[in-house]
Amino acid sequence: MENTDKLMAKKQQLVPGIWGIRSSFHSLIILLIVVLLLACVYDLRRYSIQDQLLGAHKNSNVVAALSGCNLLSGQWVYDNKSYPLYKEKECMFMSDQIACEKFGRNDMNYHFWRWQPHQCDLPRFNATALLERLRNKRLMYVGDSLNRNQWVSMVCLLGSVIPAPYKSKYQNGSLYTFKAIEYNATVEFYWAPLMVESNSDDPVNHRMPDRIVRVQAIEKHARYWTDADILVFNSYLWWRRDQMKVLWGSFDSSDGIYKEMKTLRAYEMALKTWADWLEVHVNRTKTKLFFVGLSPTHEKAESWGGEKGQNCYNETEPVPREGYLEMESDLEPEMMQVVEKVLHEMPTRGLSVQFINITRLSMYRKEGHPSIYRKHWEPLTDEQISNPSSYADCIHWCLPGVPDVWNELLYAYIFDKDELNSVNKAL
Ligand SMILES: *[C@@H]1O[C@H](CO)[C@@H](O)[C@H](O)[C@H]1NC(C)=O
Ligand SMILES: *[C@@H]1O[C@H](CO)[C@@H](O)[C@H](O)[C@H]1NC(C)=O
Ligand SMILES: *[C@@H]1O[C@H](CO)[C@@H](O)[C@H](O)[C@H]1NC(C)=O
Ligand SMILES: *[C@@H]1O[C@H](CO)[C@@H](O)[C@H](O)[C@H]1NC(C)=O
Ligand SMILES: *[C@@H]1O[C@H](CO)[C@@H](O)[C@H](O)[C@H]1NC(C)=O
Ligand SMILES: *[C@@H]1O[C@H](CO)[C@@H](O)[C@H](O)[C@H]1NC(C)=O
Ligand SMILES: *[C@@H]1O[C@H](CO)[C@@H](O)[C@H](O)[C@H]1NC(C)=O
Repeated sequence: MENTDKLMAKKQQLVPGIWGIRSSFHSLIILLIVVLLLACVYDLRRYSIQDQLLGAHKNSNVVAALSGCNLLSGQWVYDNKSYPLYKEKECMFMSDQIACEKFGRNDMNYHFWRWQPHQCDLPRFNATALLERLRNKRLMYVGDSLNRNQWVSMVCLLGSVIPAPYKSKYQNGSLYTFKAIEYNATVEFYWAPLMVESNSDDPVNHRMPDRIVRVQAIEKHARYWTDADILVFNSYLWWRRDQMKVLWGSFDSSDGIYKEMKTLRAYEMALKTWADWLEVHVNRTKTKLFFVGLSPTHEKAESWGGEKGQNCYNETEPVPREGYLEMESDLEPEMMQVVEKVLHEMPTRGLSVQFINITRLSMYRKEGHPSIYRKHWEPLTDEQISNPSSYADCIHWCLPGVPDVWNELLYAYIFDKDELNSVNKAL
């Protein structure tokens, strides 16, 4: 803009001298045409340079992301043209825990929200492009049921462009595997809700009255991750309690030492164990590391100005206002600080872990949870039926929905990094 203005000013000084007697209106028109032409040529050159740099992925949004756009600062925009990115019914591998439409939810607006960063657009999720990127590779999610929620979202996103015979899903213990057969691409989820070993490691029977965690033991889980090309971790929800029982020694031996301790301290120790493992085992040139932030729950309606004693039940719209900070009181700032601290120390270990901070953007989506619209494994009691909010799930997320956006962010980061490398090489 500034340059154009300067150019315009220069021309205005020159042109009257050349065309002397012509009316200034006439010369102004000509001038405008010249300026427009110049601007066009300039723009075309710029775009063709971008195209060269980006090779097959002509996505100017990625460039915007590269030039310092904060993807996490933005707002939800209603967009029923380009969303949802897939249909619940068409996803062969949907989970009953989050299939809200199937279990009776009939307000459909939660399908139609797009995350709009302030300074740029999120790159459009292109399942084919990601499958090509994952050819002969393993993308692996490791963590709790929210991470599994995100894995199911990814399976639906990628599955939407693969015909039935060319995809498969199976589970063996804690390991869930999706395969895109023609691409030889594997997208896995590994159940490790506390990342380190615990008495909640069984993928089905993990509701224990007393939570016990071996904060220094991770090998049993980690050997499944060793060769993955992209690792996406999370661990938060299962640490939301004051105290936890920590075990030194193994679950099988009788001489283990148990100690009750502050969860925050145990959380930090567990994340350190995780970081130690990565430092020793990760092949830096091969494996990309991600850590997904804390997923907010919506169990207290009063924190977004709703009725006291209510939760996400009956909510049909996101929190309207940006910067609704009171809601942050629901979160555990100390836990966020622990995550931040451990991740900040990663470079001193020669590792880079991309943190995907989904907390704020998800916080607005109070209506995005399954609430009562999911499979109930046990029949509901009369008491529950008379008070639906008592059994509403305000933790997980309906699909299509919020975790699709987490995966769009992951997508942006995966391509962003590669594009950044190719740009650096080209320069
Ligand atoms: C999208 O939403 C608008 C406004 O609610 C509605 O008029 C329109 O019919 C919707 N379009 C589709 C494709 O659902
Ligand atoms: C998606 O990616 C594939 C492979 O890179 C490309 O051929 C296709 O044009 C892309 N589609 C869109 C809509 O950008
Ligand atoms: C298929 O992918 C795996 C990694 O998931 C790799 O080890 C294997 O070599 C690939 N197979 C072929 C034929 O490229
Ligand atoms: C399941 O996992 C176990 C332990 O890793 C392994 O020994 C077994 O072969 C696997 N079974 C199948 C069917 O893949
Ligand atoms: C690390 O990964 C790169 C790329 O896949 C491979 O060439 C190299 O041999 C690996 N290094 C080790 C020590 O396994
Ligand atoms: C939920 O919404 C229904 C229908 O709008 C209404 O009848 C009911 O009173 C609401 N319940 C609560 C607890 O807000
Ligand atoms: C993530 O974002 C939230 C909300 O903006 C912020 O409070 C927090 O410090 C950030 N970092 C971590 C590690 O969660």
